[in-house]
Amino acid sequence: MANKKITAAITAVGGYVPEDKLTNADLEKMVDTNDEWIRSRTGISERRILKGEGLATSDMVVPAVKQLCEKRGISPEEIDCLIVGTVTPDMVFPSTANIACAKLGAKNAWGFDVSAACSGFLFSLTQGAALIESGRYKKVVVCGADKMSAIVDYEDRTTCIIFGDGAGAVLLEPNYDGYGVLDSILKSDGTGSQFLHMKAGGSLKPATMETVMAKEHFAYQEGQSVFKFAVKGMADVSAELLERNHLTGDDIAWLVPHQANLRIIDATANRMGLPKEKVMINIQKYGNTTAATIPLCLWEWKHELNKGDNIVLAAFGGGFTWGATLIKWEY
Ligand code: UT7
Repeated sequence: MANKKITAAITAVGGYVPEDKLTNADLEKMVDTNDEWIRSRTGISERRILKGEGLATSDMVVPAVKQLCEKRGISPEEIDCLIVGTVTPDMVFPSTANIACAKLGAKNAWGFDVSAACSGFLFSLTQGAALIESGRYKKVVVCGADKMSAIVDYEDRTTCIIFGDGAGAVLLEPNYDGYGVLDSILKSDGTGSQFLHMKAGGSLKPATMETVMAKEHFAYQEGQSVFKFAVKGMADVSAELLERNHLTGDDIAWLVPHQANLRIIDATANRMGLPKEKVMINIQKYGNTTAATIPLCLWEWKHELNKGDNIVLAAFGGGFTWGATLIKWEY
């Protein structure tokens, strides 16, 4: 076993979505929009919203990770490291991973957050896989979690219709038979930051009365520009991943795309030569939960996955950040 290459296999999946639903009908009462427009332009019918005083992103991470531990029959104390992809951390610091570890009783874990917007789960997964592949860590939990409702302006009809809240998590463990995370192509391009960002609250523009009045603590998005880059970025990188692994759409059991817009998902699937039956889509129920979309899909489809399935995860998001990851399913 000592000579065999270590890969990082996903050995359990957990997820959490809040109970409260925000439907298209609800949004019709809040902004000038309608169900038909939202469904035809995005594919979304409803999203989940985390409500309640004092509840934050870590409060969605915790149930997702607890569920995963129960499924695998391990205690949180056995987790070596927790990585949380998020752009809605509980606080600027300490990290949400840190806070979640304390709430979980994951006393032996270290942890950190990854800020890569909608690609947060993919970036975190690559990082977590590298920790496992190094041979130094045996149980790494990778989570994608966002409470987007905390940074969405519910008077801005172009952004509030898209986003929702949720968290998903996977457990990575060493595998010696070639299962798990096999390859990733990840990209960043900071010139895209102008199209999707939060203007204030960072060191560039600390919070003041003026920034609050100017609504600069909400997510700002130029939807059409992001859309154009997303369609090309997600499709290009997914096609490149297949090509460099000598695979075609026929070899892929599932595409797990970031759920930002049904039209972006369709374009990526077409480019990869995949029929709709092989594409995980739950955007209609949860909207765009940013870093949580991909692990929430794995969570919902986990009973349909078979050992040996080739799965491609693909994302595009703020930054710009984007990428695709190839996984061979282990259990
Ligand atoms: O996950 C992170 C990355 N983010 C994304 O991938 C999101 C990418 N972008 C998108 O998904 C789409 O651009 C949106 C869903 C955000 C917007 O859809 P669109 O088809 O690009 O709409 P648009 O911004 O081009 O607006 C078309 C029209 C405009 O009206 P006029 O100027 O043609 O009269 C908008 O004012 O639709 C109007 N509009 C709306 N109408 C009803 C914009 N938002 C709404 C709305 N309800 N909520």
